[in-house]
Amino acid sequence: MNVNLENKVAIITGAAGGIGRGMALMFAQNGATIVIADINEEKGRATAAEIQALGGKAAFIKTNVAEIAEAQALAAQTVEQFGKIDILINNAGINIGMKERGPIHEFPDETWLKIIQVDLDGVYYCSKAALQNMTQNRYGKIINIASIAGAVPLRNQCAFTAAKGGVIQLTRAMAIELAPYGVNVNVILPGSINIPAMNSSGGMYADGRYASIMSHIPLKRPGTPEDIAYGALYLASDAASYVTGSQLVIDGGWTCGFARDW
Ligand SMILES: NC(=O)c1ccc[n+]([C@@H]2O[C@H](COP(=O)([O-])OP(=O)(O)OC[C@H]3O[C@@H](n4cnc5c(N)ncnc54)[C@H](O)[C@@H]3O)[C@@H](O)[C@H]2O)c1
Repeated sequence: MNVNLENKVAIITGAAGGIGRGMALMFAQNGATIVIADINEEKGRATAAEIQALGGKAAFIKTNVAEIAEAQALAAQTVEQFGKIDILINNAGINIGMKERGPIHEFPDETWLKIIQVDLDGVYYCSKAALQNMTQNRYGKIINIASIAGAVPLRNQCAFTAAKGGVIQLTRAMAIELAPYGVNVNVILPGSINIPAMNSSGGMYADGRYASIMSHIPLKRPGTPEDIAYGALYLASDAASYVTGSQLVIDGGWTCGFARDW
């Protein structure tokens, strides 16, 4: 799939690794200038260098999306360095590991706050900051990365579920507010996507859990960062100019219904 993103400037939060890195590489291959915004400086700089080594254009700006001042600095530095912001992908996100999960009455308050601050507040802060430029330009594509958990709750993950549900509804609110300004806002709901952390100790696919997770997925495989990146590339393209406020589910069929018979 090829999309002409020449002369487009794209900020991708959380692009140091995982799904964000996959999107950064694909958007760069299609001509976009990529600003990688992440708290992980070492991996963020490595992803920027990887893109440059492949002939693409990329910069790293260290950013904690949960801090409004850092989100504002990210937008300001991007405009200063590259002149404008065409695309913002709000991808940075955190969740808790398998061992920390539990029901709401046992859920640590500080964990609730941290997840809401990064996964929900971060989307609000970065969007608001980038929109100063996008609304002036009467052009913008905002793509939020939520989760199927935002549509179908996952047990023992109340903060992640609530944050991602909030991101889906925030997307819809932004879409109707920003349509007059030429800014399209859409959300992707990934299912289970294979990133390195999934396979390390305590990860979702470790300790014999892989087969159990796959038993819920009709397509019987985890998604890849590229599966998500293709969806984002479509939403960032002119082909999606009439698409706003929509939810693109990329989950191998997981949330269609039960993938088991009994
Ligand atoms: N992998 C999956 O199965 C899956 C499923 C559903 C949704 N998602 C969502 O996809 C997005 C990307 O996750 P991933 O799976 O690639 O995980 P990941 O951990 O590989 O990537 C997340 C990135 O966000 C960065 N980050 C964390 N906190 C940050 C902060 N405060 N400010 C800036 N950057 C920060 C991390 O350093 C990391 O590079 C997340 O929003 C996640 O919730 C992932």
